[in-house]
Amino acid sequence: PLLIAAALVGGYLLGSIPFGVIATRLGGAGDVRSIGSGNIGATNVLRTGRKDLALITLLGDGGKGAMAVLIAWLATRHGSKDAQALLTCLAGGAAFLGHLFPVWLGFKGGKGVATFYGTLLAAAFPVGATAALTWIIMAAVFRISSLAALTAVALAPLFSLFLWDQPYPVTALCVFMAVLVYIRHKENISRLLKGEEPRIGAKKAAPP
Ligand code: G3P
Repeated sequence: PLLIAAALVGGYLLGSIPFGVIATRLGGAGDVRSIGSGNIGATNVLRTGRKDLALITLLGDGGKGAMAVLIAWLATRHGSKDAQALLTCLAGGAAFLGHLFPVWLGFKGGKGVATFYGTLLAAAFPVGATAALTWIIMAAVFRISSLAALTAVALAPLFSLFLWDQPYPVTALCVFMAVLVYIRHKENISRLLKGEEPRIGAKKAAPP
């Protein structure tokens, strides 16, 4: 029980570090929340024109999810495999929630895509890798970040269950994150349906 609480609280705190806001502020690019889609993620940081800051945001937001999972993995390495799978997924899920609802930003966080990848690559590498490959293929074909992410997160639970035969907490984590990613992309989805979602590299998102 103590480990579960530590995984949830520690994961949340790690996940709530808003790398996009920190990177744009420290990098002299203003506040990412006032440009483009207003989101704090790497896609929107890229709209400042600063690829370096976007990369830092991607790696930071992904890395914190991976870090939460790795710490939980280390803390449970002497226990059973089942307990380890459960704890790592709880820590990853908490980090993901921390990114979406960071206490430091009045609970207004990001859309979860980078943190989804970091968490999943650490919790179940083949699932994260095939989901990342899906993003890359979709982004290469359509050049729309949200569409690539929405496709990849929808497929991730299927990859987990059918392709890689992962323990049940991994599939549950995939479903949990996918549902929240979709909820967070409500505006993106309506722009996609209207054909108004901007392509990667365009400076501005269509107004909401
Ligand atoms: O990672 C978020 C991405 O899917 C969409 O971001 O800024 O275009 O709403 P944005």
